[in-house]
Amino acid sequence: MPDRPAIPREGTAADALLETMGAFGERDVDYAGGRTWSLVYWAGEAHHHLVERAFNAYMATNALNPLAFQSLKRMEREVVQMTASLLSGPETACGTMTSGGTESLLLAVKTYRDRARKKTPWIRRPNMVVPETIHVAFDKASAYFGVKKRVVPVLEDGRVDVAAMRRAIDHNTIMLAASAPQYPTGAVDPIAEIGELALAEKLPLHVDACFGGFILPWLERLGVPLEPWDFRVPGVTSMSADVHKYGYAPKGASVIVYRDMSWLRHQFFAVTGWSGGVYISPSLQGTRAGGSIAAAWASLNGLGEEGFLRLARDAWEVAERLRAGIRAIPGLRLLGRPDATIVTWAAAERGGVDVYAVADQLQAMGWSVDRQQRPPSVHCSAGAANLPVVDDYLRDLRAAVETVRANPGLAKEGEAAVYGLMAKVPVARLVKSEVLKVLEGMYGPGDGDVDLAAQDAPGGARVAELVNRFGPPVQDALDRLRRARARFRLRLRLPRLR
Ligand SMILES: Cc1ncc(COP(=O)(O)O)c(C=O)c1O
Repeated sequence: MPDRPAIPREGTAADALLETMGAFGERDVDYAGGRTWSLVYWAGEAHHHLVERAFNAYMATNALNPLAFQSLKRMEREVVQMTASLLSGPETACGTMTSGGTESLLLAVKTYRDRARKKTPWIRRPNMVVPETIHVAFDKASAYFGVKKRVVPVLEDGRVDVAAMRRAIDHNTIMLAASAPQYPTGAVDPIAEIGELALAEKLPLHVDACFGGFILPWLERLGVPLEPWDFRVPGVTSMSADVHKYGYAPKGASVIVYRDMSWLRHQFFAVTGWSGGVYISPSLQGTRAGGSIAAAWASLNGLGEEGFLRLARDAWEVAERLRAGIRAIPGLRLLGRPDATIVTWAAAERGGVDVYAVADQLQAMGWSVDRQQRPPSVHCSAGAANLPVVDDYLRDLRAAVETVRANPGLAKEGEAAVYGLMAKVPVARLVKSEVLKVLEGMYGPGDGDVDLAAQDAPGGARVAELVNRFGPPVQDALDRLRRARARFRLRLRLPRLR
C-alpha cells in the first residue's frame, strides 16, 4: 500500500501548490479542447473566468441561512424564476436551487411521496411509473425513499410507450415521470400525452429536463420542431433543469420548479425541537455552497439570450454534423430521435462492428468515450466546444471502425472484453456485486487506481467464469420467466381507489 497522505507539518506556498495541482490534471480528459462528449459543458475561456470570479466572490458564504445571506436568497430566487420562465412556468411557479440533477430528482420523488402520505395515507407501498430510459437517479430515489420504480418500455424511437404507462398505473401509484430528453438516446418523451394521462389519473407528473432545460428552449427558438415538453402541458406539476449543464455554470447547480406552492411545500423540512435551535431546510443539503448560487446567477446573466442562442446554434450544428457523418459510416447506426443535442451510435443491425472495441480505439486516440448498454452504444452530448473538432472525431471514428473490422479479436481485449462480458452475465446481482467492488477499490485506503481491464476487476476472470458456467441458455430462460411474470402481474391488476 502506498504511504498514507498526511497534512504536512508546514503549509506550502500558493504558487507551488497550484503548480502541483495543475500537474494532477495532466491525465484528465480534455474538455476545453472539445474531446469530451459529456461531463463538461464548456462555453469558452471568457465565460469560465466570469463564473470563476462570481464563485470566488461568494465562496465563503452559506445558503443554509438565507436570512444571514440575503444576497444568496435574492440570487437563488432570480435563478429559479429565470428558469421557471424559460420552462414556460405560470406566474405561480416556485422552487429551489439544488446541488445537481440527482438532488433535484431525489427531491421530486421525496416531495410526491410525502404528499401521498398526507393525501392518500392508505397507500403503504407507493410506486412511481417511469420510462425505462429515465435517469438512474430515480433508482437512487427509489432505494432512498422506498418508492418502488415501475418501469415502462420505450418504443423503437426511444420514447416511452404511453399505453404501457397507463397499464402500469395501479392503486399504489403516487407519481409519473418522463424526460425531456432522456440521456441514453436523446429522445423527448411524449409529454403532452403523458400530461393528459396524469390529469386523468389525478397523479403528479415530473418532467426531468436536467439535460434539456437550458438547451431545448433555445433550439425551439432556432426553429427545431418539438412537441410541447414543459409547463405548457397542463398535467406537468414539476420540472428539473441543470444550470451546471447547458446553463454553463460550474458544477453544483440545478433547479427544481413546481407549478405552485401546493406542491413545493411537501419538499420542505423542519425540526423545531432540536437543542441546536429551530431548523428549516428547503432541500436535501444542510450547508449550501453560496459560490454555486452566485456563479449560476452570473452565468445566466452573463450569457443572456444572445449568448445562449449562439451556443445552442453551435451545439446543434455539432449534433447535425455528427448524425450525418455517422450515418455515412458503414457498420454503424444512430439510436433514438434527433430531438436534442444527444447523438448515440450503435452497431448496424447487419454487418455491425463491436461497439466496445471501437470505443477502446477512440479512447486510445485521446477521445473521452461514454459507453452504454442495451444495446451496446456510445453516447455523445454535443456542445459548442466540440465544433472545432467534430470532423476529427468523425475521421477517427471511421478509422476505428475499420481497425476493428480488420481485427475482430479486439472485441476480446481491453475494456471491450469487460463490457462485453458484463452484458452477458445472466444474473444481474453478480455484476452488481462485482462493480460495487470497484467502488471499494476507489474509496478504500489505497491509492484508488482502478484498472477496469485487470483480471480482478469486474468482468475479469471471475465474471468470465460465470459466463462460461451459466451461458446464454440461462439468460434466455430468465428472460422468459421475467416476461411471464409481467403478464401475470398485469392480469392481476386491481382497480384503483382514489
Ligand atoms: C436527463 C438527466 N437527468 C438527470 C441527470 C443527473 O444529473 P447530475 O449528474 O447533475 O446529478 C442527468 C445527467 O446527465 C441527465 O442527463
